[in-house]
Amino acid sequence: MQTLTITRPDDWHLHLRDGAAMKDALAHTSGVFARAIVMPNLKPPIVRTEQARAYRERIAAVVPAGHRFEPLMTLYLTDITSADDIHRAHDSGLVHGIKLYPAGATTNSESGVTELGRCAAALDAMQEVDLPLLVHGESADPLVDVFDRERVFIDTVLIPLRRRYPALRIVFEHITTSEAVQYVEQAEPSIAATITAHHLRYNRNALFVAENGRNGIRPHAYCLPVIKRETHRQALVRAATSGNPRFFLGTDSAPHPVSEKESACGCAGCFTAPVALPMYAECFERVGALERLEAFASFHGADFYRLPRNRDTVTLRREPWQVPAQLPFGADRVVPLGAAETFAWRVAD
Ligand code: DOR
Ligand code: ZN
Repeated sequence: MQTLTITRPDDWHLHLRDGAAMKDALAHTSGVFARAIVMPNLKPPIVRTEQARAYRERIAAVVPAGHRFEPLMTLYLTDITSADDIHRAHDSGLVHGIKLYPAGATTNSESGVTELGRCAAALDAMQEVDLPLLVHGESADPLVDVFDRERVFIDTVLIPLRRRYPALRIVFEHITTSEAVQYVEQAEPSIAATITAHHLRYNRNALFVAENGRNGIRPHAYCLPVIKRETHRQALVRAATSGNPRFFLGTDSAPHPVSEKESACGCAGCFTAPVALPMYAECFERVGALERLEAFASFHGADFYRLPRNRDTVTLRREPWQVPAQLPFGADRVVPLGAAETFAWRVAD
């Protein structure tokens, strides 16, 4: 097979940032994806509908000519989000989910939730109006081993939460472990999960790859939740390629300036938008499941969010290509994940 045409996909988890950098980040997404769930972890975070509306307008203003792209907005849940905030978000029609960041769990999560019990009014309202909760599923307890944070979150937060709010629709974002796969497979259909391309492609050895005989640490492959060992990667590949509608595409593409990644305290986030669809395609092809890519990338997410599936298509061409080493990012530069690797599929113009 030399070309693959699928219904145009959506990205159900994306960081677009703001200002001049946003324009550069967006173009890589809007050339491929029709819509994206846009994360609200700006500084300051998007906590109210009016902020989401203004952010949406700033995004719409920089969609490149010839691209058609619809940003699907989210709000950032805090300890003081009220039922009224939720009702206003729902009534606006432009907010498609409320994002839970456990305080301290990841990039720009300082304003996140310290204790989910404080969000009872907001969660009640979300369940009532059927507005999904999108979770960064990691325990922020500093005593928990960084590689166990997702598993601990399931036991200490997710299970009690779902017991208390059985009808609340939840997206377990960017799952990284076999435990999360198993949990979603066995749970009621009100919960689904996104899976990133990089968690399908790499295991944690990718964080420590040698070059020219020198050992190294790879800041551009560092994200949260951090990539896990090979058995977990395999579980994610099985889930993504299984055809189960509870798993769908969310890149978690999260660009940062080179200087903030290549630092004594390099920040978390991988810029995957420029390579995401080829990366997913290669992963599906390696396990002989290319025919299931379309449903994972273009159907399951829309169905879960109760939005219409896209009507137009995108074509991938089999043509080896290399991701550029760096790309413009406002006044800075950004290093895309997979830079210098060769990919088998390329998005046709
Ligand atoms: O690695 C990450 N980067 N994980 C997140 O949850 C946030 C993201 C970011 O905004 O950079
Ligand atoms: Zn994210």
